Amino acid sequence: MITLNLTNLQKIAPEHGLSEAELDKKIDKIPRDFYPAIDETAQIQKINEFAAKAAAKFEHFVLLGIGGSALGTSCLQKALKPDDEKLTILDNIDPDVISRLDKKIDYAKTLFLVVSKSGETTETISQYTYFRAKLEKKSLPPKEHFIFVTNPEKGFLRETAKKDSIETFDIPQNISGRFSIFTPTALLPAKLIGIDIEKLIAGAKSIKTRFLSPETKENLPFTLATIRHSLFKKGKTINVLMPYAQALTGLSDWYRQLLAESIGKNLSTGITPVSALGATDQHSQLQLYNDGPNDKLIVFIEREKFATDPEIPEKAITFGRLMQIEKSATEISLTKNNRPNITIKVDSISEETLGEMLMMFMGEIAFLGELFGVNAFDQPGVELAKKLIKESL
Ligand code: PA5
Repeated sequence: MITLNLTNLQKIAPEHGLSEAELDKKIDKIPRDFYPAIDETAQIQKINEFAAKAAAKFEHFVLLGIGGSALGTSCLQKALKPDDEKLTILDNIDPDVISRLDKKIDYAKTLFLVVSKSGETTETISQYTYFRAKLEKKSLPPKEHFIFVTNPEKGFLRETAKKDSIETFDIPQNISGRFSIFTPTALLPAKLIGIDIEKLIAGAKSIKTRFLSPETKENLPFTLATIRHSLFKKGKTINVLMPYAQALTGLSDWYRQLLAESIGKNLSTGITPVSALGATDQHSQLQLYNDGPNDKLIVFIEREKFATDPEIPEKAITFGRLMQIEKSATEISLTKNNRPNITIKVDSISEETLGEMLMMFMGEIAFLGELFGVNAFDQPGVELAKKLIKESL
């Protein structure tokens, strides 16, 4: 379960923090519906059936995709299957990385998941073309080694799937890449590495109920959006997400895209997302956060229970307890220096709590778009670069 601790916002000077009254905003409108994907039970069944067949046939999975088509899967893999070696996520076109992968994999036992909402993204399609040529050279039929997760109607991947009888999963038309974690984009690869996607969805559903609640205090996504929006007006234009849990580095990367692409709009609006990790970055970033410009909101994620918690000899405490002490010291130092900070508390890291956090953050960003008066669901700046790349080719 997730809870929010906002008390530090009231302990600091009012020009940097937020009072109870400032937090208690009215919800005018519940934003556009990106959330029905979590009710798609037919998709879940199809994913489960496919995964059972694939597990019997393949030893290695390679995801070809970028941005919202890769970051959700990477977040789930890092948080829930940190030791997994079955799934490789190729979200770049770095030639050395591609060549190393080519040497490493056994093509006969590999399934490639090509994930692209548009079905047209140059980086992903070039990876696809490369690995397809390799398969063909080894006389391995592409239709047995590729699965496409893509636009239900159009795009290069959709056309290729029809032509070459390649099996596909749909990404619903109305869901943009960074909001697609509860679609086959991430659910299919997650299932392939043994993540319990039903539990993930159950966590998301519990937050959906809160997202739809008109009660401000109940509505965690709206509360977070209000905090960020009100503090932006007080000059806090940078957001630092700092989990005290190594398992959540992928969540930070996923959130970085969500906040940047959704709210960075109209040549004027935007919050710069920064990822930090506790306790590591206390020794690399904290000086700036405590002593540099007061332009940041620091959002801690505190994990109450760790999967294992070895004791530190002669100190009579565990590493988990030391982590809590360190987080608390960081938080107190920031509060003393009038640096706004809040804590998201999570009892443990599991499919359910991950589902809750992901849904909470997507809901927050949807509300934030409303508060800033921008469309949180498009990305014209990304599309422009994509177009220029195509023209250059
Ligand atoms: O959030 C988005 O829409 C983008 O970041 C896309 O995910 C990214 O550009 C990849 O696009 P596509 O899934 O169409 O290949």
